[in-house]
Amino acid sequence: DTIEKGGYDHFMLKEIFEQPKTILDCLRGRLNAEKGTIQVSGIENYLEEISRANRIIIIACGTSWHAGLVAEYIIEETCRIPVEVEYASEFRYRNPIVHNGDMIIAISQSGETADTIVAIEKAKEQGAIIMGIVNVVGSSISRISQTGAYTHSGPEIGVASTKAFTGQLAALMLVAFKIARHRQTITEERFKELCSELALVPGKVEKILEQNESIKKIAESLKDSSDALFLGRGYNFPIALEGALKLKEISYIHAEGYPAAEMKHGPIALVDENLPVIFVATKDVYHEKIVSNMQEIKARKGQVIAVINEGDLVTPAIADSVITIPEADEIIAPILNVIPLQLLSYHIGIARGCNVDMPRNLAKSVTVE
Ligand code: G6P
Repeated sequence: DTIEKGGYDHFMLKEIFEQPKTILDCLRGRLNAEKGTIQVSGIENYLEEISRANRIIIIACGTSWHAGLVAEYIIEETCRIPVEVEYASEFRYRNPIVHNGDMIIAISQSGETADTIVAIEKAKEQGAIIMGIVNVVGSSISRISQTGAYTHSGPEIGVASTKAFTGQLAALMLVAFKIARHRQTITEERFKELCSELALVPGKVEKILEQNESIKKIAESLKDSSDALFLGRGYNFPIALEGALKLKEISYIHAEGYPAAEMKHGPIALVDENLPVIFVATKDVYHEKIVSNMQEIKARKGQVIAVINEGDLVTPAIADSVITIPEADEIIAPILNVIPLQLLSYHIGIARGCNVDMPRNLAKSVTVE
């Protein structure tokens, strides 16, 4: 057991720390930043068909569904194809409208989630092309899919997903940028810029992991909270959802993720000195707006914790604590921004004496409906 954990106390921590390597494994042989090329062997033969898709429907559950939401923002922005993101369990029991030529992207770590399997089988019967973004090689979803990409994250033992999530994001970014360039919805110059930015991710993840001790201190101040709110905008809204899910799973603290601006329509009523609000507030087009959301929380005595970029001099003056991470293109940033939230949940869970590798009532793979 100790050997398998590679010197770490828990699989979750080991898997969080493996991410520079697992993300690199996903990019290896596919991304060539010097030449500015992307080759994903599993989609090359379908590139024409995928590029002609009128609509993409993403189907997934849990953390994989959050990767799907990030992909929605990325694909719509870069490929200009309309995207819908569906919970597999909802999609399969409706009478969903699927047209010939629609493309399904099924995202699954295990490739065995029962609801996701049935949902994509249903869409396939109606003529959709299925692209699988799967971690486990040879799994059911990888076999049902006509095209796709493995995430190459290696076996994930911790029940709450960490490295599989960043692997999904890396694979989805590769696929999105490849399709975008094929459709010529991004320029060659922008494509090359995104390739270089993507290649910098593993190194930046290393730098974020160096913040482990300071994140642990912040976790100490949050461990007795009964609730927490996670806020983000744009590409970071799904990261806020994932941060909240991780905290719930690992520490049993009730947590909600919200689009930062939407907080005015409900969650703001909960804000008082006992409510920690975690902002994912790295530099993007929304930055000024999210800073003003922070001020609104502070005005109501909420406790603000913010994930920000190096060089941001404004936020530290407002927030109670900040986690500072390297800057990145806003499209790439979600893959970095989730890392401090994984560490935060881990340390809060440990401080509360929880079984972080095997939280109560949860299963690694939900193979029954
Ligand atoms: C379970 C796991 C989650 C996972 C979800 C979807 O709930 O605990 O970590 O995100 O299933 O699983 P999949 O294997 O399809 O990604």
